[in-house]
Amino acid sequence: MQKVLLSVENVQRSLPLGGNQVHILRGVSFEARSGEWIALTGPSGSGKSTLLGILGGIDRPNEGRVFLDDVDLHRLSEAKLAQIRNSKIGVVFQSFHLLPGLTAQQNVEVPLYIGPHSHRAAELALKMLRLVGLEDRAHHMPRQLSGGEQQRVAIARALITQPHLLLADEPTGNLDRASGKQILSLFAELRSALNLTIIMVTHDPAVAACADRRLHLVDGMFAPAAQGEAAL
Ligand SMILES: Nc1ncnc2c1ncn2[C@@H]1O[C@H](COP(=O)(O)OP(=O)(O)OP(=O)(O)O)[C@@H](O)[C@H]1O
Ligand SMILES: [Mg+2]
Repeated sequence: MQKVLLSVENVQRSLPLGGNQVHILRGVSFEARSGEWIALTGPSGSGKSTLLGILGGIDRPNEGRVFLDDVDLHRLSEAKLAQIRNSKIGVVFQSFHLLPGLTAQQNVEVPLYIGPHSHRAAELALKMLRLVGLEDRAHHMPRQLSGGEQQRVAIARALITQPHLLLADEPTGNLDRASGKQILSLFAELRSALNLTIIMVTHDPAVAACADRRLHLVDGMFAPAAQGEAAL
């Protein structure tokens, strides 16, 4: 059995709203092993994106801990956390977030200019584009690419720093079914080739079924998802 890469202990997140506290996450705990692919489902507003942000070191919990490779992320300084975000965690979003004025290759290179990285950026970006099947599109601008292709560029960008953890917030949400399927096949290939741990938010039960297991959030807590229930 592979080692535990990510350990989440009693994560709570609340925000002040008016005079009240809104409890978004109410004590979430789970572990993810290296090479494991987990689908995170739940109704709109149940806290999926909030949890993903905390796992990715973008947001901090009010209570609880997140260990990545045995490092307690939220006890780190902002600078150290930024370094871990840039080296160990890759993130992809529903709407790709490519920079419109840069080519596919330049977009993929971006994370290498943020932290200290030894590799030659252009060479490595081309290698990543090859990995996602888009080497021949290196010099295309995002607007010249289909949605599925743009998402593949975003995945290449997320993986260029060789992270162990890939967080994906509805990565197929803006894609037609065929392009969505391609992204899911790519995830399957990448997690085997790179021993990636993938945590993927989705509303779609068919998409969730591609993962090894499913965690279902309801109102900020994990709850069993009944068999056959739509993951809404
Ligand atoms: N910055 C914020 N300020 C106030 N409330 C917030 C903030 N961010 C999120 N929330 C609230 O927290 C709850 C969870 O939001 P979150 O975006 O995590 O849900 P989600 O499960 O990702 O939903 P969806 O499926 O619609 O993307 C929602 O009720 C949302 O309104
Ligand atoms: Mg969300």
